[in-house]
Amino acid sequence: MSPEQLARLAGELDEVEVVHNTPKFPIAGTRAEKRAERTVALWFVISALSGLAFVIAFIWWPWEYVNVGEPGYTIYSMYTPVIGFTFGFAILAMGIAVIQAVKKLFPDEVSIQQRHDGPSDELDRRTLVAQLTDAGNGTTLGRRKLIIRSAGLAATVVGIGTGVVALGGIIRNPWAEGDEAPLWHTGWRPENGETVYLRTDTGILSEIARVRPEDMEPGSMMTVFPYRESERGHEEELLHAQRASDAPVMLIRLRPGTVVNARPGQEDFNHGDFYAWSKVCTHVGCPTSLYQAQDNRILCPCHQSQFLATEDARPVFGPAARPLPQLPITVNDEGYFVAVSDFVEPVGPAFWERPKTT
Ligand code: FES
Repeated sequence: MSPEQLARLAGELDEVEVVHNTPKFPIAGTRAEKRAERTVALWFVISALSGLAFVIAFIWWPWEYVNVGEPGYTIYSMYTPVIGFTFGFAILAMGIAVIQAVKKLFPDEVSIQQRHDGPSDELDRRTLVAQLTDAGNGTTLGRRKLIIRSAGLAATVVGIGTGVVALGGIIRNPWAEGDEAPLWHTGWRPENGETVYLRTDTGILSEIARVRPEDMEPGSMMTVFPYRESERGHEEELLHAQRASDAPVMLIRLRPGTVVNARPGQEDFNHGDFYAWSKVCTHVGCPTSLYQAQDNRILCPCHQSQFLATEDARPVFGPAARPLPQLPITVNDEGYFVAVSDFVEPVGPAFWERPKTT
């Protein structure tokens, strides 16, 4: 039997009734057909160009952090929108190309099939292959080399773009600065002997609200950020200190008499009932913004991880696997909370090179 006969037989065996089937272009090679073909190919080419732009931007666009107002800030701030737009547009253009191909080139067909259950037998499987082949021939894509080539180009470039995302972390070396690499340090690290205060956010950047123990009630929580006196009056530096993703810390005042099992070596990281833990969840980095004083649990709203404050903020529920890093704090001569040092371990989600600390 010829493929066409097998395809017809397949339809009959499957109780499919073709109500009507009309080719879009019964006469091949007309100007209208070529125009439709070029439209589809154009969208595939646009998809390929966007994918190429994405790859170039992903690899070569200046992505290293630049402070607000410093030279290169505008270009740096465009990095995420540019790679998002180019990759998104590549996928969108490919989708449009496929829709255009179906709408403009595939035959108009209406079929009705009766439902039946059970596995397919050998004859059904063979005829299905023939049916698909016949359907493929009906789309006329087989003889449309322009569309096939442009679709292949777009799929290749977008595929490479997807691969670049996966390989991007290997192309860039986050450890280029060695021990000074940003993953090891946060803005809490005292530099040049300057005191790092715990500051709360009042909503006004220039308003410096350093925190004292008497500012908090027992059983309360406050989000704090690092602050140095040398930053006073410098908007960019204040902004940077406050916006750094690893900066937020939860300052918690436990209720009097609450017993905390500190981690070995961290017994003096607290100041009385005051404990400071990184607010960056150790699962995938959401802010663990909720503190439940009744049972001393810190909750992460993203995937419901819970950390027990009385057990050195170790996870007791949810997907997080490591305790929240604790910031060593004390109160200075002026009565303000200050950081004794940076965190003694990296904050946030784990990464391969992170040493095991728990
Ligand atoms: S990021 Fe906190 S539980 Fe997932």
